[in-house]
Amino acid sequence: MPGLTDLYKEIALCRKCEIARSRTKVVPGEGAENADILFIGEAPGYHEDQQGRPFVGPAGQFLEELLASINLTRRQVYIANVIKCRPPDNRDPLPIEISNCRPWLERQIQQISPKIIVTLGRYSMAMYFPGKSISKIHGTAQTVNGVTYFAMYHPAAALHQGNLRQDLLRDIQKLPAILDEVKRSAQPETPEPAEPQQLSMF
Ligand code: URA
Repeated sequence: MPGLTDLYKEIALCRKCEIARSRTKVVPGEGAENADILFIGEAPGYHEDQQGRPFVGPAGQFLEELLASINLTRRQVYIANVIKCRPPDNRDPLPIEISNCRPWLERQIQQISPKIIVTLGRYSMAMYFPGKSISKIHGTAQTVNGVTYFAMYHPAAALHQGNLRQDLLRDIQKLPAILDEVKRSAQPETPEPAEPQQLSMF
């Protein structure tokens, strides 16, 4: 299977949407190729568009704080977005942009094969928890076809609504235990340790 670097080259050539013309840099995503946890945000903003990297502005700073609170760095996880180009004036992604971009996200997921996908905000949540409301399901997980999905508010939401900060900090604390459980249930049953044997020689 071609690696992520090849995929990034393909994404950089994508011109399916109008917003590909106004972007400065495409923002495919970044992080560990074998990450256990993949975070999916919404769309690049100003800073991301300038640098070609996801979550490098104020929302990214808070995401890094959230990760640090469970002893993770951004290099240990993978961070992607629903769409890879910045919408002008940071408008919401359009349905056509989301569907045009979805195959790229699916290929990233296939390549990384994460144990947990964390949705950040409404747009990525809608892909995996259709019809659900974020205020009801944030901080909960569901497993579908061997992949566990965990919904969280978008870190940028906490920058505007301070009360969501505590929700995000509380929700992310659940991730290590969920990951342990996912890893444990993926392991084959280990047999009970044998009774210690009497050594008859002595
Ligand atoms: N918000 C997002 O959803 N993604 C980014 O990369 C930055 C801000």
